Amino acid sequence: MGRKTKFIIVPRIVLALLWGFQPSAQGTSAEDIVRLIYKRLPGDVPTSTELQLGAEDIRAGRFEAVVRRATSKTGFFRVIKEWASVLTNVGTDANVSYNEMSAMFVLAARDGIDARELLTGKWTATYNPELIQGVAGRVIEEMYPARTNNKHYAYVETHFSDIGSALQKINQRTATKIKNTDDTFTDDPSEVPEAEISGILTSRPAGEEYLSAGTNRRLIRWIMEHLLCTPLSSIRDTREPDFRVRHDVAREPGEYNNNCVGCHAKLDSQAGALAYFDFNSNRFRYRSDRVQNKYLQNADTSPEVGYNTTDDSWLNVMRDYNNARLGWGSADKEGNGLASYAAAIASTEAYPKCLAQTAFKKVCRKEELDFQDKKTVDGLAQEFVDSGYNLKELFIQATVKCMEKL
Ligand code: HEC
Repeated sequence: MGRKTKFIIVPRIVLALLWGFQPSAQGTSAEDIVRLIYKRLPGDVPTSTELQLGAEDIRAGRFEAVVRRATSKTGFFRVIKEWASVLTNVGTDANVSYNEMSAMFVLAARDGIDARELLTGKWTATYNPELIQGVAGRVIEEMYPARTNNKHYAYVETHFSDIGSALQKINQRTATKIKNTDDTFTDDPSEVPEAEISGILTSRPAGEEYLSAGTNRRLIRWIMEHLLCTPLSSIRDTREPDFRVRHDVAREPGEYNNNCVGCHAKLDSQAGALAYFDFNSNRFRYRSDRVQNKYLQNADTSPEVGYNTTDDSWLNVMRDYNNARLGWGSADKEGNGLASYAAAIASTEAYPKCLAQTAFKKVCRKEELDFQDKKTVDGLAQEFVDSGYNLKELFIQATVKCMEKL
């Protein structure tokens, strides 16, 4: 039996399940598979040349060549945008406005930037102001990103069909400007010092969604759930030492030890990294002279035993017991400030696995992973690490992995 028969005829039913495709009475042609790849990856239809070339490749078993060609189309950037958008808001909505965080993912995917830099990099992704001026026909405030609004990215989303090509990698702290009435621009750098700039964690959506109001624990929860793919419910461990649990958490006998500690031991010790951070009046706030008030609020709830935050030190209590499985590095025990904490998260084994898992789900259209899928994702994560955390390669290989099963 030749490869052609193996790939094209036999697994029609599998194909139908995986891709939501209705097999025809005549069988699934190589052309159909090419169309499916294009539909999933750049979200586009192949040109007649691409269809012809692709069908030849499929007949010869060269799936990767087809996927690679499809990925070179600009629609690929929209797929990355949608995938990353889920991360950028509390509601995990893929249809939120394009923003600084999703643009950083698009840039990383376009240029093959090591995805650990999404947590540790000092850069951000912005669009060429001259191109925006060209589209608008005049000087507009959307030409540069602003500290206090998302208009730059929203403008690009509605006015550019290709959101990938015009992206530029520039210094995150100084990227933002304010437009003056005489059509000049004034720099409006972040209050966050250069040393503390930490990739997407200091991008505008992270501040707006995860650091506004509250107690800065929400950002840690988000990191656990969406960057390490471990919901708090699955990493509760009441054996973790609780001396860093803040004094706003009530110590109800029984309740506290059996429940609250399971989350707060880890959340509160890690949120120490953000003690100088806040997001209010629509922008990041940072002060190094004293911790933010939100760390000291409701101190009378547990005044005797609760932890009193005095600096931005953080401690990782997840290295022992159950949560050692997240694969922590040796330098991930403690530190001061967000940048060192972000580096600790970036170097876990869970981080590349999580990106591999969500990429696989996205291109394979899966909500849940079965046993076989989990093994596939483990292999994918290893290849992703070996590629230097290259997101474009990750998406290519994830798509190939789905297709190989056909
Ligand atoms: C499943 C994990 C989990 C458990 C269990 C848990 N918490 Fe929390 N707690 C959180 C998270 C996450 C936040 C941050 C919520 C936010 O800002 O969106 C939080 C926030 C808080 C806050 C700050 C609320 C504010 O003003 O923003 C207090 C106080 C608190 N928890 C007390 C408790 C107490 C007391 C218990 C036990 C009865 C408990 N928590 C159990 C996860 C947990």
